[in-house]
Amino acid sequence: MTDLVLSPAQRPLVGSVPVPSDKSIGHRALLLGALCHGKSRIAGYAGGEDNAATRRAFESMGVAFEVDKGEIRPRGVGLFGLRAPDRELDCGNSGTTMRLLCGLLSAQTFASRLVGDESLSRRPMLRVVAPLRMRGARISGEPHPTKPGDLTAPLRIDALAEDEHPSALEYALPVASAQVKSALLLSGLYAHGATTLREPTLSRDHTERMLLSLGVPLRTLGPMVELAPAGWNGMMPAFDVTLPGDVSAAAFLIAAAVTVPSSRISVRGVGTNPTRTGILEIARDMGVELVIEPQGESGGEPVANLHVGGSAIPHGAKVGGELVPRAIDEIPALCVIAARAEGVTRIVDAAELRVKESDRIAAMTDVLRAFGVPCEPAADGLTIEGVGARPLRPASIESRGDHRIAMAAAVLALAATGKSRIRDVACIQTSFPRFVGTLRALGADVAVEES
Ligand code: S3P
Repeated sequence: MTDLVLSPAQRPLVGSVPVPSDKSIGHRALLLGALCHGKSRIAGYAGGEDNAATRRAFESMGVAFEVDKGEIRPRGVGLFGLRAPDRELDCGNSGTTMRLLCGLLSAQTFASRLVGDESLSRRPMLRVVAPLRMRGARISGEPHPTKPGDLTAPLRIDALAEDEHPSALEYALPVASAQVKSALLLSGLYAHGATTLREPTLSRDHTERMLLSLGVPLRTLGPMVELAPAGWNGMMPAFDVTLPGDVSAAAFLIAAAVTVPSSRISVRGVGTNPTRTGILEIARDMGVELVIEPQGESGGEPVANLHVGGSAIPHGAKVGGELVPRAIDEIPALCVIAARAEGVTRIVDAAELRVKESDRIAAMTDVLRAFGVPCEPAADGLTIEGVGARPLRPASIESRGDHRIAMAAAVLALAATGKSRIRDVACIQTSFPRFVGTLRALGADVAVEES
């Protein structure tokens, strides 16, 4: 098992660093590249293990990918060119891989089976299976071990007959979810009839942006989207895209700059799609000195350099409502900022955190308390009593196999009075393979140990 041992920061973190390419956009680029006609070029690809799971799934279905330093080139086979997988499709730790594939594969005339690691095999899948079934998909799964009536992986997806198609679907998602929305849009590419979706509030819209750029007949209006394929020829052209940096990875560097007083960190080329910038808005509202320097667009997505740091101590905030889906993956990093703020931060409307790679409400409560930060969990969030710039207690933390819990704990450790250990950190590879190197480049003292 690999652990991180972090020493207290002796000086401010300083430097300008990149982050890996956006994981969410990476999944969609690989998937749509596989379904286009011809060879696409995805530049700036620094995908971690989650993106690799998506790529391997398509390789098992006959799609070739050329990989060249920082670039990946899928050789698209067209919407109807996938072949039956030669094995079960292992989605690893990646919920996005499993849920998006569920939508796509439920519209195919071959059967498939989706499996995942221990964490993914506990994640709820009925949210995607139920609306797909409404349009004719034949998907079965295992009964969920703790959520009666829900399903989890392995999922078996039966083939549609040659003359069968997903039917039209009008569906209101009970919870904002880009994974569910994307799965339904992907099955909608094959449907006879429109796919009309409404979310309670808009979740990340990378799928919609990419489909629109490929000429798919899609219309969006706030949290509503309609895909009406009648009259469309079903051809998506190969594309050339440069992936922006992952704001979800950048969030940990913002948290690091807040954690170690007087730090100054710049993060280059970060995606600033408004459906993802909740953490930037929250951090600024809390008084974090954060400058967002727009750098134009890349592949239909806005990009900016972020400059964070200084001597101001942030203050607590109440976070809820529509901000939550726009910051859902960044809540562990937000917890770190809240711990280093003066005053109380209350996070509400975030029950979704309970069904991420781990139960992030329970996990962050344990992490914060271990470092001596008072924290109370609630069903849909947590309340954190910030300790300001006061030092933290050194801690020994279990990652629970969750990359974002491991990284949040590693950042908190920089403010402790002695060495801290974060156990089982291989999971960080799923989203931020160079996390340790990046912290070191900024001046942190991080050792990697096998235990
Ligand atoms: C993602 C959507 C979100 C997010 C996940 C990535 C995506 O999940 O938490 O890390 O790429 O579509 P939900 O759709 O479950 O909200």
